[in-house]
Amino acid sequence: MVCAPGAAARATLRLEVDRETEGQVLSGTLIDDEGGARYPIVDGVPRFLSVPDAQDAAYESQSKTTVTFSDKWSKFKSYGMKPTEQEFLQEWYRKKFGLGSIAELEAFYGDFGAMLEVGPGSGFNVRFASTHTKGTVCALDISDAAFTTYENTCDLDNCLVVQADLMAAPFPDDSFDFVMADGVLHHTPDTRKAVEALYRKVKPGGRFFFYVYKKMGAIRQFADQHIRESFTKLDPDACYAACEPITELGKALSDLNATVTLTKPIEILGIPAGTHDVQRLFYYNFLKCFWNDAFDYETNNMVNFDWYHPHDAWQHSEEEIVQWMGALGVTNFQFNDANPNGLSVMLQKPR
Ligand SMILES: C[S@@+](CC[C@H](N)C(=O)[O-])C[C@H]1O[C@@H](n2cnc3c(N)ncnc32)[C@H](O)[C@@H]1O
Repeated sequence: MVCAPGAAARATLRLEVDRETEGQVLSGTLIDDEGGARYPIVDGVPRFLSVPDAQDAAYESQSKTTVTFSDKWSKFKSYGMKPTEQEFLQEWYRKKFGLGSIAELEAFYGDFGAMLEVGPGSGFNVRFASTHTKGTVCALDISDAAFTTYENTCDLDNCLVVQADLMAAPFPDDSFDFVMADGVLHHTPDTRKAVEALYRKVKPGGRFFFYVYKKMGAIRQFADQHIRESFTKLDPDACYAACEPITELGKALSDLNATVTLTKPIEILGIPAGTHDVQRLFYYNFLKCFWNDAFDYETNNMVNFDWYHPHDAWQHSEEEIVQWMGALGVTNFQFNDANPNGLSVMLQKPR
């Protein structure tokens, strides 16, 4: 299924094995005999990263974002693997996919012959999907998350992990029954181009899910921009430390276990009427200060780091996405209401 990326997207590759164990190639090379390119296999993961010749602004931008995620996924290798975290995350995907129950989520994965998860992070969902399908699950990540995902899934015989840029995914077009990218595409230099690049990999009639950040109200946008201007420039460890007071505020607000009721919406700030948990009200509308009791302190702090450190983290509106769908000729798509912070889009590619 893997092929040379980019222009040579149809070339098949020859495998030279240096080291293997129990049928898994740990190191070796994939060789494109026609084009001359060689792709190393490092610690079980085929690596399709290329360095552009010229100074390329998109490459520079992506490289800075990749530093954040290589660091994060080397530190948080077991994210999503504990039972409490799994429960929370499965429920998260159920909502994002617009399904009624966890059994439906399992059946959803079970239906696919070939699936691709882009930007899998620790690989917790690759593992979940692989154990609930008879098909194949491919995972692709540009950062060292690829190695973490491989470590967490290499015991499964229906998983393949590659390290590559989704803009040059080493798979032929029209390959997958299902492609998903959860919290990934807004971390590339151009979210719309990323949607288009992955859409090409979906088979006619196949499905594509993506979740991207949503444009938030004015005060939250100001706080995001103000903090990110400083925090993106810090090295990862300094940024984790800088996030701690924000995480502590999130916990303190959550510990209040309090609600407030607004009888009228505050339209100028995008705050709806209704009863709001105080921490969530603050988090969605004033300052992202994540806290969730399902995770330990370090993991909660990492979620805030994940927001404030990446070089690229674009926010989008429903209107923009409707326009992207129109340009792709997609008529069958829906927004699923999972959380006010993001837009969950499930689409079907026309046959
Ligand atoms: C916020 S993490 C999301 C991880 C996981 N989907 C989750 O929800 O926990 C974003 C992931 O996207 C990956 N990523 C960002 N840009 C990418 C690109 N151009 N190609 C492939 N992966 C990319 C990052 O390396 C990172 O692992």
